[in-house]
Amino acid sequence: MDHKIPCSRILLNTDQLSGIVSRLARDISAAYPHQDHSLALVVLEGARYFANDLLKQLHPPIDTAYIKASSYSGVNSTGNVIINTQDWLKETIHGKNILLIDDIYDSGLTLWRILDWLRECGASSVQTCVLLEKQINHTKDITIDFLGTPVADEFIIGYGLDYNGRYRDLPYIGVAAHTVIQEGANGYKP
Ligand code: IMP
Ligand code: MG
Repeated sequence: MDHKIPCSRILLNTDQLSGIVSRLARDISAAYPHQDHSLALVVLEGARYFANDLLKQLHPPIDTAYIKASSYSGVNSTGNVIINTQDWLKETIHGKNILLIDDIYDSGLTLWRILDWLRECGASSVQTCVLLEKQINHTKDITIDFLGTPVADEFIIGYGLDYNGRYRDLPYIGVAAHTVIQEGANGYKP
């Protein structure tokens, strides 16, 4: 483990993140007054840290399940979204009000693909909760029902967001330093 600061700029420090998460928890708690027939679905790996903090502040609590979706390689979205889940989850989703939780709305391909899959599974309703929205022309237009905050179009790391599997554990979110990206270009494998 090296001790270089991996970010050229901090975008959201720990206090700012916790303020955003608390506000989202209040809004979601008000929108989901009954937990019956509701399920929070967390997109792994990126949303795990955010969802962990968010879900423990929901009153009443909502049952939670996880799906794995991946499309990024280094700093580029491959555009080919792979959903990796288990068959029993499809049955669990059927007839439920789903709160879909992800880390960032970038191109929108991941959310779009998962929303399509949730329709296939027979979800009764779906609302989306995303910590960050990149200010770009998204490839897919997605309605974000609960948004943390917009961010500029830069490659960011921390609080769940990774670069080639690294830096998820940073307690803040920042813009990845050039040195970090170059490590990846030089063939760094976590
Ligand atoms: P999308 O399909 O292009 O919207 O991207 C979705 C996924 O790509 C997100 O859920 C993240 O896991 C990842 N991603 C997008 N932008 C970034 C970034 O700036 N840093 C790290 N991961 C990102
Ligand atoms: Mg993700």
